[in-house]
Amino acid sequence: MTTPPHIPLQNLSADRPQRSVAMVTGASSGIGLAIAQRLAADGYDLAICARRQQRLMEVAQSLRQQGVTVLAQTVDLRDEAQILSFFAAVKNHWGRLNVLVNNAGLGHNEPMMTGKTDAWREMLDVNVLALCICTREAISLMNETETETVGLPTSEVGAATEATVKAGQIVHISSMSGHRVPAIAGIYSATKFAVRSLSETLRRELRAANSNIRITAISPGIVETEFAQKYHQSVEQAKTTYSQFPVLQASDIANAVAYALSQPSHVEVNDILLRPTQQSS
Ligand SMILES: NC(=O)c1ccc[n+]([C@@H]2O[C@H](COP(=O)([O-])OP(=O)(O)OC[C@H]3O[C@@H](n4cnc5c(N)ncnc54)[C@H](OP(=O)(O)O)[C@@H]3O)[C@@H](O)[C@H]2O)c1
Repeated sequence: MTTPPHIPLQNLSADRPQRSVAMVTGASSGIGLAIAQRLAADGYDLAICARRQQRLMEVAQSLRQQGVTVLAQTVDLRDEAQILSFFAAVKNHWGRLNVLVNNAGLGHNEPMMTGKTDAWREMLDVNVLALCICTREAISLMNETETETVGLPTSEVGAATEATVKAGQIVHISSMSGHRVPAIAGIYSATKFAVRSLSETLRRELRAANSNIRITAISPGIVETEFAQKYHQSVEQAKTTYSQFPVLQASDIANAVAYALSQPSHVEVNDILLRPTQQSS
């Protein structure tokens, strides 16, 4: 596995009076871990959650070595009370939130014709419902977040070059399975079609509310993580999935998140689709 060169962001944190705070769900492995590492490298303080406590604590410890503050909490996203407790901890600790990355998610290979209801429910609970709850709570906290001064293009504000706005950024880690139905789709693909719809719904709601909060959906093709092993319940099947051609690495998705976050405040990156170059579907 090769790691692409790290490109530091130019317009984050450095000239701000306080660090921006980013929340990443599902930071104990895979894409969420890579995003948390990237955001720490870019100077964000981090709130991270997942179920596996030991893993999460190890991640938190390694992130702190980059000099950022990390709040790590074990959360089962199927339980709304645990989600609300996590947001309360973030509010209590920082009193603000600038970025939410709704990354946590899973797939079970449980087809429409024969699948288990519990497996379907878990995918819907984590991939869809928890994403909605986290987004709602994040926006509430972002709307309470102290106003910050951001640069604006001169044309937006006449002679002035700065304005005070309430801002924030929501990122949904969706999937290419939310853009076309793969051969083995089951309920997983349906949950990612839901994320696609919810991302546009949120964009419209934010614009109707004259909010400066931005929403970005990122839809990867195959990424080498723990996902395939869990999906197929097979180490061998996961190896086959990830060895058929050079697949995406979690850091590729972290780069896409960093790209969206690094845009000036008048630019909202709505959709990023990225596949391994050799992935045909
Ligand atoms: N890998 C791919 O090919 C691929 C492609 C497109 C999209 N995606 C999406 O990318 C996201 C991340 O997946 P990944 O590939 O990085 O897989 P992964 O390595 O299995 O990571 C999944 C993360 O979600 C967390 N999670 C799962 N259920 C949870 C729950 N009930 N409560 C709290 N956290 C939970 C896991 O933590 P714990 O197990 O510790 O709770 C883990 O941190 C998912 O939304 C997935 O749909 C993946």
